[in-house]
Amino acid sequence: MNRELTDLIRSAGRMVLNAGHISVEQKEGHANFVTETDRAVQDYLIEGLSRVFPEAVFFAEEKDDNVLTDKPTFIIDPIDGTTNFFRRRRMSSISIGLCEHCKPVLALTYNPYTDELFTAEKGKGAFCGDTRLHVSDYPPERSLIEFGSAPYYSELAEVTARSIYHLLTDFGDVRRTGSAVIDLMNVAAGLSEGTFEWHLKPWDFCAGSLIVEEAGGRTGRIEGGDLTYEAGQSVMTANPRCFDALRECLLKAKL
Ligand code: IPD
Repeated sequence: MNRELTDLIRSAGRMVLNAGHISVEQKEGHANFVTETDRAVQDYLIEGLSRVFPEAVFFAEEKDDNVLTDKPTFIIDPIDGTTNFFRRRRMSSISIGLCEHCKPVLALTYNPYTDELFTAEKGKGAFCGDTRLHVSDYPPERSLIEFGSAPYYSELAEVTARSIYHLLTDFGDVRRTGSAVIDLMNVAAGLSEGTFEWHLKPWDFCAGSLIVEEAGGRTGRIEGGDLTYEAGQSVMTANPRCFDALRECLLKAKL
C-alpha cells in the first residue's frame, strides 16, 4: 500500500485523537450531526490526496455536489461514527476508498483509538497492518451479525426492528457499534459473520466493502444485486456461509 496514503490517514487519525472541545451541529434528518473535526479532517485528507493524485476527484460526506463518474474518485468519510466521536465513545474510523470506473480498487480505513489500519487493493487481499485478513467460516446458528440502525431515516425504524427480531430467531446474536466502517472491518477480520443496514451512503461502505471482499466475504444490496457507489442504498455483507441465509432472513422483515 502506498506509504503516502498510510501516513496521511494516520495523521488524520491524530486530529481525531487530539480534538479538544468538540462543537456539534445538527444536519438534515433525524439524529444526524457534524462536528468541526469532521470538516477539518475532510479538508486535510482532500488536500493531502490531491498532492499524491492531482487528477483525482472527491466524493465526501461533508461536501455538497458529490457525483461519481468514470474518473478516479476518492470516496471519503472523515469520521465514520460521528456520534460516537463527540460522545467520546472511542469507536470511530476514517475511511478512504478509491474508485475507478465507479468501483473501488483501493481502500484504507483507520481506527485511531485502536491504531488499526485496514487496507486492500483489488485482487491483492485485505490486511490489518501486515496481517492478512480472512472472513470467518461460522454458520448462521453460531453467527454474530452487526447492524446499523439507519438512524437518520425514521421511516426505516420498523424494518430495522423486524430484521433484528428475525435475526434473533434464525441467527446467533446481533451487535451495534455505531460505526458502519467498524462493523465491516469486524466481518473482514472474522470477528463477526455479517452486517446489514437498510440505508447507508457510499462513504460509509465504499472502502469497507472492498476490504470485506478481499478478505473473502460477499457484499450486496439487501433486496438483491451488487452494491453501487453513486448513491445511498441498503447494504449487507457476510461470510460466504451466511450470505444467502442472511439475505433471506432480512427480506422476511420487508414483507
Ligand atoms: C454513520 C455510522 C452509523 C450508521 C449510520 C452512518 P456517520 O456514519 O456509520 O453506524 O448507522 O448509518 O451514517 O454519519 O457517523 O459518518
